[in-house]
Amino acid sequence: MAQITLKRLSEIFSNIEAPEHQTILESGLQKGLSLPFGCMAGVCHTCKAQLVSGEVDFDPEAFSMTEEEKEKKMILLCQAKPKSAQIVLNYLEE
Ligand code: FES
Repeated sequence: MAQITLKRLSEIFSNIEAPEHQTILESGLQKGLSLPFGCMAGVCHTCKAQLVSGEVDFDPEAFSMTEEEKEKKMILLCQAKPKSAQIVLNYLEE
């Protein structure tokens, strides 16, 4: 089980516990959070967030992340699963 801190524009808005077998988006939605998403398939990039700290299971090459997104450690929450015990994520836009 991972502890995930979710921030929006660097302000903490939620802390959730997320099992390793589930995507972070699924865990957040199950907790009743209103998180942005669309396709749930790694295509629309609506669920994009920045990995501030911790580790996730996510392959940026498989989901067409740009060089700039890779440098900023952007991940897709509909595809990323927790790998470390503590993870901090930040939504850069409203
Ligand atoms: S919801 Fe479409 S890429 Fe994640």
